[in-house]
Amino acid sequence: MVNRPDKRLGVREGRSTMEEDSLAMNGGDGPNSYSQNCKYQVAFFPPHMFPGAASDQTKLLLMHSIEEKLMIPPANAAWQVFRIADLGCSVGPNTFTSMQTIIDTINLAYVNASLGSDQIPEFQVFFNDQTINDFNTPFRALPPNRPYMGAGVSGSFHGRLFPAASMNLMHSAFALPWLTKVPEEVKKVSSHAWNGGRIPYAGSSHRVAEAFAS
Ligand SMILES: C[S@@+](CC[C@H](N)C(=O)[O-])C[C@H]1O[C@@H](n2cnc3c(N)ncnc32)[C@H](O)[C@@H]1O
Repeated sequence: MVNRPDKRLGVREGRSTMEEDSLAMNGGDGPNSYSQNCKYQVAFFPPHMFPGAASDQTKLLLMHSIEEKLMIPPANAAWQVFRIADLGCSVGPNTFTSMQTIIDTINLAYVNASLGSDQIPEFQVFFNDQTINDFNTPFRALPPNRPYMGAGVSGSFHGRLFPAASMNLMHSAFALPWLTKVPEEVKKVSSHAWNGGRIPYAGSSHRVAEAFAS
């Protein structure tokens, strides 16, 4: 496996023996690392979707989805372990915030259903990303008082990662529309779709958005 450090903020190109040519976020916690440059994802959702501080918007979306869909089983079929996966977790820290939000929301659902804390299951979180992801960084940074047991699962989520019917909740943020390559015209200064050296297309010209879509 060969990884080439990339000076672009938060992104690293690489080739893995298990996967096609792919991009992963820059590892570690240096100035160009994803962990120091992931605030864009936190502030992604436009204010009209959810009022409040930008950093609360993804959290609210996640909480609403769980409140709407979670069905706590009856006592005779209670969950002993509640298994969660974060598909495309990267190097953190957003993944930790999301996992904490999920577990807090589930705990609250038990309280709202007047169920005792002895009925709340144990939580297990599987942190998944591509094989070339820097898994050392998130595992070194796991929150000390986390309410779950964590494990890493490397490999593409386009393939099979877990045994059938073994998971309770699959989470994925900003990973499904992943491209294996930044469109060439976005990187060319002479192109109409030149993105000024940036990778995200939100806030860029429609030509940049079109280049990503094509
Ligand atoms: C923009 S980052 C988002 C990270 C994190 N979910 C967040 O919200 O900050 C996208 C991540 O998805 C991962 N990813 C993309 N395609 C993937 C795939 N097919 N299987 C596993 N991980 C993938 C990338 O390696 C990258 O770490």
